[in-house]
Amino acid sequence: MAKRNIVKMGDPLLKKICKPVEKFDAKLHQLLDDMLDTLNAVEGLGLAAPQVGILKRVAIVLWEDELYELVNPVLVKSSGSCLDNEGCLSVPGFRGIVRRPETIDIEYYDRNGNKQQLHAEGYFARVFLHEMDHLDGILFADKMVRKIIDED
Ligand code: CO
Repeated sequence: MAKRNIVKMGDPLLKKICKPVEKFDAKLHQLLDDMLDTLNAVEGLGLAAPQVGILKRVAIVLWEDELYELVNPVLVKSSGSCLDNEGCLSVPGFRGIVRRPETIDIEYYDRNGNKQQLHAEGYFARVFLHEMDHLDGILFADKMVRKIIDED
């Protein structure tokens, strides 16, 4: 396992549409393990593969000590609408207020290629949506309704 460098806003890699994973092999497992190492080394709730320079539809979310490994995630259903603030490891220096659905249902594959379903609400849902946006080349900074400058 190894920590990888985090790509920062301004790098064209973060604007690309990522490709679906086709092989649930050792290389995918290595990527997921390295992404967890990378996330554990900083303070973050999630990390998407393009943030470590890999243009694959892979993301991880850490929520209440639970790790979610998402491969080829798809938003199946969403409802409601709410505003809250978000930051991103690829966007140092500021946070932003972003409008997102309140509740979501997603489908994805785990690292072994088993299909999973998940229902999420509130900020938990927001973290998944933020990471899934990365897979389509979208940063919170592209859709925020207001920018929040860090005070420290
Ligand atoms: Co992000």
